[in-house]
Amino acid sequence: MSHTRRDTIAGALSLAAASLASERATAGNGERSPWQGRRYRRWEIGPLAGPRGLRLVERRAQAPGPGQVLVEMRAAALNHRDLMIVAGRYGRPQPPERVPLSDGAGVVVAVGPGVTDVAVGDRVTAPHFLEWLDGDYDPAIFAADLGNTADGWLSELVTLPAQSLLTLPDGLDFSDAAALGAAGITAWTVLVNLGRIKAGDTVLTLGTGGVSILALQIAKMFGAKVAITSSSNDKLDLARRLGADITVNYRERPDWEVAVREANDGHGVDIVVETVGVATLGRSLACCAPNARIGLLGALGGQAQEPPDLMPMLLGNLLLKGITSGSRRMFADLLRACGLNGVKPHIDRRFDFDEARAAWEYLAGGGHVGKLIVSRGA
Ligand SMILES: NC(=O)c1ccc[n+]([C@@H]2O[C@H](COP(=O)([O-])OP(=O)(O)OC[C@H]3O[C@@H](n4cnc5c(N)ncnc54)[C@H](OP(=O)(O)O)[C@@H]3O)[C@@H](O)[C@H]2O)c1
Repeated sequence: MSHTRRDTIAGALSLAAASLASERATAGNGERSPWQGRRYRRWEIGPLAGPRGLRLVERRAQAPGPGQVLVEMRAAALNHRDLMIVAGRYGRPQPPERVPLSDGAGVVVAVGPGVTDVAVGDRVTAPHFLEWLDGDYDPAIFAADLGNTADGWLSELVTLPAQSLLTLPDGLDFSDAAALGAAGITAWTVLVNLGRIKAGDTVLTLGTGGVSILALQIAKMFGAKVAITSSSNDKLDLARRLGADITVNYRERPDWEVAVREANDGHGVDIVVETVGVATLGRSLACCAPNARIGLLGALGGQAQEPPDLMPMLLGNLLLKGITSGSRRMFADLLRACGLNGVKPHIDRRFDFDEARAAWEYLAGGGHVGKLIVSRGA
């Protein structure tokens, strides 16, 4: 940690100024923190009117409480669900003061009483389900979901529980870590935990959004062959440059499952990252090799016109599983793997903190490939 701390101390100084030394001196000992009452800016979701309802406000910082850490945000990433959250269409509508964005990374600038594993200057990130540290999925994790039921990363200062934090490995910067968040964890869960991916497997991933492009990049890291679909030939060109082996335009080939099989010498695929959902599930199942694993994680396609044909599951001994992101442990594995292998998430566009609203508008337009980042000098 000492080396990462050295790398990032300059960034922390932008907010901490000359107070870092005294911050260290007061960390965790109950004295008044120099952060107490300091003004900082954050975005809030506002009246649930979509991106135009987002508002940039000034608040006063609280010193971190027991077990908490104060982080200066350096980069945050958008996900498809952020469109729904600001419109009040993702689960229960959230209060107007809610700070959006589930994914981000930054520098620790203060620690609360009892915090020993994290120190001022550490470069950190966190899984958006703050309390899903390890083990199986439990719906209770939604009670502490960053950018949804808990204040997220689109803020100059973010208060987080120390136990949820992960330090960034060498080789990954703040934008990389933010981009890997929910989308990367979800792709990792399908490919590694469900899919047991190995070199030579063929992976199918749908569309060229955040989850799908990260699935492509992670699958290539494992030596797999990757088939990807898109509505755009330009996006497919980019996917090929990122390593895709088979590319199919689903507008030009509505029977894209046939095209994928043809391009794979008649063989089906071993793992499906099903980002679109029940609307495409029938075609995804029809595309599968025997014993394939399918992670159903998205709902981009809305409701299916008719129920998917499940007969391929029976005939092929296929395994279909619903996926809800993943745990802190899975995020730790993902960060370590990307750091070791030099995998940098593909970032389509960066936006300044002050222009965060434009990031939502760009995401809504669907012109992106991979991830969008809002940064503060990252
Ligand atoms: N279960 C979980 O834990 C979890 C976690 C993360 C995301 N998700 C879900 O996964 C989905 C993808 O999220 P994301 O953040 O990657 O979204 P995104 O970045 O907005 O990507 C959306 C892309 O999907 C493609 N697409 C849209 N409709 C399609 C359709 N009918 N058929 C084929 N492709 C289609 C388009 O790609 P082209 O422009 O190339 O055609 C579009 O650009 C969303 O439903 C999201 O809510 C779930």
